[in-house]
Amino acid sequence: MKTIGVLTSGGDSPGMNAAIRAVTRSALYAGYEVCGICRGYEGLLDVDYRMLDDSAVSDIMQRGGTMLRTARSERFMTKAGLQLALEHIEHAGLDAIVVIGGDGSMRGALTLQQSGIPVICLPGTIDNDLAYTDFTIGFDTAVNTVLDSLGNIRDTSSSHDRTTIIEVMGRHCGDIALMAGIAGGAESILIPEDSAEINSICSKLIKRHEEGKVHSIIIRAEGFHISTEDLAEMIQQKTGIQSRTVVLSYVQRGGSPTAFDRLLASRMGYYAVELLQNQNYGRAVGISKGSIIDLDLKKALDEKKQYDSNDMKLAEILSR
Ligand code: F6P
Repeated sequence: MKTIGVLTSGGDSPGMNAAIRAVTRSALYAGYEVCGICRGYEGLLDVDYRMLDDSAVSDIMQRGGTMLRTARSERFMTKAGLQLALEHIEHAGLDAIVVIGGDGSMRGALTLQQSGIPVICLPGTIDNDLAYTDFTIGFDTAVNTVLDSLGNIRDTSSSHDRTTIIEVMGRHCGDIALMAGIAGGAESILIPEDSAEINSICSKLIKRHEEGKVHSIIIRAEGFHISTEDLAEMIQQKTGIQSRTVVLSYVQRGGSPTAFDRLLASRMGYYAVELLQNQNYGRAVGISKGSIIDLDLKKALDEKKQYDSNDMKLAEILSR
């Protein structure tokens, strides 16, 4: 093995740059050359590469986003696209590829592995929706970003005796909402895994009002079955409480990665190169109970995330 490719794919996440840096520096230390593939799988199709040396990844650890940029590639998911990518990989002399991304990106990596290209995957997404790993790169930063915003919103919400619904990212996974909600003391946390009904939400608000708590924060994952706007309207109609909405959207995808995400990305990037050195290909790198682990990529993707209702129970008890 001589040259390792590295790419970031799908929704970007804080810590991706730390992961690129760790893969690059670890690979160069091990005597490999490193090819940065720009814009995810689109860069493979467009031959959009740049060789990386130690200086190329200087001063990026603290930056959100990804220096290689990212994309979602419909083209790559076609038979012709895969064939073109394989031709470009061979022509560029790439001996292996490290893919940093979420579920969709890892499924793309699996097709490369099944086509004979050694791959290693790092979990890069703010959603924390990959069942095989306790944490994904970017999740901790996103939770902290939401928490900062929640604090600001609580200030104004309490000044106006309002209920504010904060919408956060996480199409199918409510981890950002759940963790930020618990840490921020949200009065209600609404996630796709737990279908709370509007009447129970309103009853709790009314009860709190009667107890003298005249403002509330409701944190809603974007995948929850009632939309943010509908929730606000129904709460106002059913309870008479002034309701406002805030959609945090892409704010959650940026920002300087936390120490946790920088360390997670650095440890995973180094581990990825070790796997390649040991010719242990087709692996998904993760973290389990504080230790960096790896498992078969297909098995990792076949795992289904199990919702742990204990966290929601904790949230409900602590936000009485
Ligand atoms: O998968 C990460 C994520 O940020 C989701 O939480 C969000 O729903 C989605 O990406 C947004 O996708 P896009 O960046 O393509 O709008």
